[in-house]
Amino acid sequence: MSTPPRSDHRDDAPRRSITLTKLGEMRALGEPIVMVTAYDHPSAQVAEAAGVDVVLVGDSAANNVLGYADTLPVTVDELLMLAAAVRRGLHAPLLVGDLPFGSYEASDEQAIATAHRFVKEAGCDAVKVESSAVRARAIVRAGVPVMGHVGLTPQTATALGGYRAQGRTAERARAVLDEALELQAAGCFAIVFEAIPAAVTDVIMAQMEVPVIGIGAGASTGGQVLVLHDLLGINAGFQPKFVKRYAEVRGEMLRGLQAYAEDVRNRTFPTAEHSYGIAPEELTRLRQQLGDRQRA
Ligand code: KIV
Repeated sequence: MSTPPRSDHRDDAPRRSITLTKLGEMRALGEPIVMVTAYDHPSAQVAEAAGVDVVLVGDSAANNVLGYADTLPVTVDELLMLAAAVRRGLHAPLLVGDLPFGSYEASDEQAIATAHRFVKEAGCDAVKVESSAVRARAIVRAGVPVMGHVGLTPQTATALGGYRAQGRTAERARAVLDEALELQAAGCFAIVFEAIPAAVTDVIMAQMEVPVIGIGAGASTGGQVLVLHDLLGINAGFQPKFVKRYAEVRGEMLRGLQAYAEDVRNRTFPTAEHSYGIAPEELTRLRQQLGDRQRA
């Protein structure tokens, strides 16, 4: 028997309080927007309890929870299953689903069909696309809010020369600005800026009219996003420069599992505290029945 499901959600807790309008208001008021990735139900509940504004089921699930080397192999079906689990743990934050590589680039029809699946099957409030203003416009027109993504766009990292900061020459910075403006004109309600020099972000911000959420793009964006596994220290290995660790969860998980293994091996777990009882008379009856059977 496993632990029965529990919900942190109370009936009087606010539901779906972060809307696109609210994000626009936050931008206008200069109120920072907090965004984080989540790929499962317990993480969604923690993001909810922490008061996060936007939760992204990123295609970074590929390398953070599914064991792929990068984001390219993850499929729509894999992300939909994760997004649906996150949806069940989330009420107030806006839920954004990342359209994975190969699920929206081929045609407007493909992009719209994939976006609709994220809304209908996983309950996402919006989807995110990397660069592609043309597809963003088509999806917006089909009724699904779209978050754009410029700078280091991992789905096209090879074409960008690898996982490295973008916009480090005047020409490349201009290209990032142009992409951001195209996504804005396409109707994106917000745009992620990833791995861009802070001074370049400062210049681009002067032309942005929608909320910009930064990751390794300096402090002048309207909000920040980090990958949950990076900020909580769940993963071992390489960390990009822009990650700040707020916890060391992997170390704590390892410590707990090692302690459990040790207790099982030296038989100090379980104790009476973790065991069920039975009334003495019932035990006596059981023993009598078994004794009778063994004699019979
Ligand atoms: O997939 C992801 O985690 C992302 C964030 C880095 C914005 O796209």
